[in-house]
Amino acid sequence: MTLSLTVANSLADLDTPLLVLALPKGAAASGDIDAANMATGGALSRALSRRDFRGGRDETLHLAGGEKGIQRVLLVGLGSGADRPASLRRAASIAARQANRMGVGSLAFYAGSLDATESEAVGSGLIIGAWQYREMQAAPSADDERTPLASATIVAGGADARGDDARRGAEAAAAIGEGHSLARRLGMLPGNVCTPDYLADTARDIAKRHGMKVTVLGRAEMERENMGSFLCVAQGTPQDPKLIALEYMHGPSGAAPVVLVGKGLCFDSGGISIKPAQGMEWMKFDMCGAAGVLGAMEAIARLGLEVNVVGLVGSTTNMPSGTAVKPGDVVQASNGKYIEIINTDAEGRLVLADVLTYAKRWSPAAVLDAATLTGAAVIALGHTATGVMGREADSALVDEVLAAGRRSGEPGWPLPLWDDYKELIKSDVADVKNSGGRPAGTITAALFLAEFAEGYPWVHLDVAGTAYTESDIGTVPRGPTGVPVGTFVEFVRGRAR
Ligand code: BES
Ligand code: MN
Ligand code: ZN
Repeated sequence: MTLSLTVANSLADLDTPLLVLALPKGAAASGDIDAANMATGGALSRALSRRDFRGGRDETLHLAGGEKGIQRVLLVGLGSGADRPASLRRAASIAARQANRMGVGSLAFYAGSLDATESEAVGSGLIIGAWQYREMQAAPSADDERTPLASATIVAGGADARGDDARRGAEAAAAIGEGHSLARRLGMLPGNVCTPDYLADTARDIAKRHGMKVTVLGRAEMERENMGSFLCVAQGTPQDPKLIALEYMHGPSGAAPVVLVGKGLCFDSGGISIKPAQGMEWMKFDMCGAAGVLGAMEAIARLGLEVNVVGLVGSTTNMPSGTAVKPGDVVQASNGKYIEIINTDAEGRLVLADVLTYAKRWSPAAVLDAATLTGAAVIALGHTATGVMGREADSALVDEVLAAGRRSGEPGWPLPLWDDYKELIKSDVADVKNSGGRPAGTITAALFLAEFAEGYPWVHLDVAGTAYTESDIGTVPRGPTGVPVGTFVEFVRGRAR
């Protein structure tokens, strides 16, 4: 269940098991936290004057409070970054995770006066930090049980509190948080549960709850559409592949929609070009682009944005078998282009080739695709930045996506789609080959997609490094991060304003 958020106007009369105070670098005791200082019997102002706590990024200090009222105080550092919403989001995540470890069940968060954007950042951070996946574990014994954080109060500020702004921000955070949590849950679910059918059912559920149109193509329907590229990935698996389309049409009628596309490989073994056993289990996360699309559609509907948005998911599994596609095979995509298969592990681009072709029927205003597409993206940008790529002609759209990523706390970084790199994916027998080898692997994957993303403005996000983490990164534990839900939602919101 997602954390529930409320807003309070001030610290006065607060009754909470845990008050989180987010303080900037070099913070000194000030009048507006008198209530907290009193609750700790003066320990708060002493900790600050002794410089036990200095407000550095990610720094925390836990103080005991009173028996009633403010019962504990957790200081969290905001650091000295210039982007206040980003610092608040980060501090709120760290606080919520700490609250889960303490088992307090609820908290109040204070960082001085908050506007709507800042309150939304706090709310998002709290939801991201509080999220846990425990559906497949027995409940801990009473002795070990820690009550998960279920509710949080955002304190709007001091004398100059703008309660209504803060409330608007918290409501938006809650809507986006539902999308985020959905995406993370789908990411966490194992491949034997989260199948293409499961993603289709999830899309049907979103459609039903929010009055969207949903279309699901299976193998037979895709054969009729001549989707030889997508289908060659699916030919090694008995599971029915799914191409899912969700249509949220709440903008001006007839206005060209934004189309969001996600790679939904419910498991990527590599196929005949099989991956090494070590770490192969992580490839259940190869559907995080698809989870991002479904999460974004959920959030966009909850926000009630007045826009036309189509969400597309291409879902299958990549398996070795007697019927699987092999290196050297040539297939034909639905736009007519022939593809030589060099490496069956470069399957995401084969799935997306036909989904991007399918997107054209909506005459989109813009198409954004997100995919855990290349290991090379992890090598280039680590787990910090999403790789963002577009044609030179779409450089304004690339900037729009980068700005949306920054606003949502999901930074991206551009890589060039220069023609020079196209040499690497020229085939001797077909129009294009599906792998250009290791050099510029993220760029050649995007250039392959560009062969199919024709006739509309388009930007590609390689989220291989950012959609999940293989180690705890402070704000989120090992596992799915929710990226790219925030980027997608902020982009669409930007178009709605
Ligand atoms: N899903 C993988 C990419 C990936 C790797 C995501 C590691 C996250 C972490 C993708 O399908 C893949 O296998 N790509 C290959 C492409 C290569 C064969 C050209 C890769 O990156 O090695
Ligand atoms: Mn692969
Ligand atoms: Zn893959």
